Amino acid sequence: MQEQRHPILMDGRGLAAEIRQDMAARVAARGVGVRPPCLAVIQVGDVAASNIYVRNKRKACQEVGFQSIGISLEAEASQAELEERILHLNEDSGVDGILLQLPLPRHLDVDRLLALIDPAKDVDGFHPLNMGRLVLGRPGLAACTPRGILTLLHHYKVPLAGRRAVILGRSAIVGKPLAAMLLNADATVTIAHSRTEGLAQLAAEAEVLVAAVGRAEFVTPAMVHPGATVVDVGINRLEDGRIVGDVRADVARVAGMISPVPGGIGPMTIASLLENTWESFRSRHLAR
Ligand code: GUN
Repeated sequence: MQEQRHPILMDGRGLAAEIRQDMAARVAARGVGVRPPCLAVIQVGDVAASNIYVRNKRKACQEVGFQSIGISLEAEASQAELEERILHLNEDSGVDGILLQLPLPRHLDVDRLLALIDPAKDVDGFHPLNMGRLVLGRPGLAACTPRGILTLLHHYKVPLAGRRAVILGRSAIVGKPLAAMLLNADATVTIAHSRTEGLAQLAAEAEVLVAAVGRAEFVTPAMVHPGATVVDVGINRLEDGRIVGDVRADVARVAGMISPVPGGIGPMTIASLLENTWESFRSRHLAR
């Protein structure tokens, strides 16, 4: 019988819990008379996945002692109303972070709304100024999912400098900011996407492979270099209700390390949101 390989599981759930503990301790030690950090989350309409994400973000805030403000607007909310809400939160000195949950209903101009958020409160890192800073390798608030991925890779001491990293997916939320972060960590980075020719072959050359395509079980063992580190960013709900990633379970036979779904990148994303909110709070209220 062939020997069964067991990759190292990158435990995002466990690491995120450690980060929350550390955050709770920092909140508790913030000093007498200093208010806790505060995150405002704006949700428009009633998208089932967004309901879950927003609930988890607020729950995490509560757990570490952050205040959170939930602003829930009807799906028909106007562009003008959203702009007014954002400007109001920008001016509110009691708010450190502003998060606009995506996707938004189609009648809203998402680019304009994201650009209206004060870059110093842009805890999602989606403002063009923060994206630009990231690409230039300058300090700034960086997108939560890529930040969580880097934190997990560093925790597991995955070498990046000089290594071949392939990202599947070119979204503004994951693929593009992650490419900038991996490049800043001196990896050799390729982004592959739906128009890429020879995607499977490219993927199979990666020492670090990140799947962020939003397609259930897209990555097969043939697309993975033996011993590679595989990061699964997908959260896909199957018809039978099961949640699976973008990576097929049997990739575990070839990978050296792999992040599970659930329990991998999802919790790390929320931990990064807390870190960003803390950093925004600290630069506003505490001496460094
Ligand atoms: N929708 C899916 N992922 C995200 C995220 O990281 N931030 C926001 N605001 N919306 C999302």
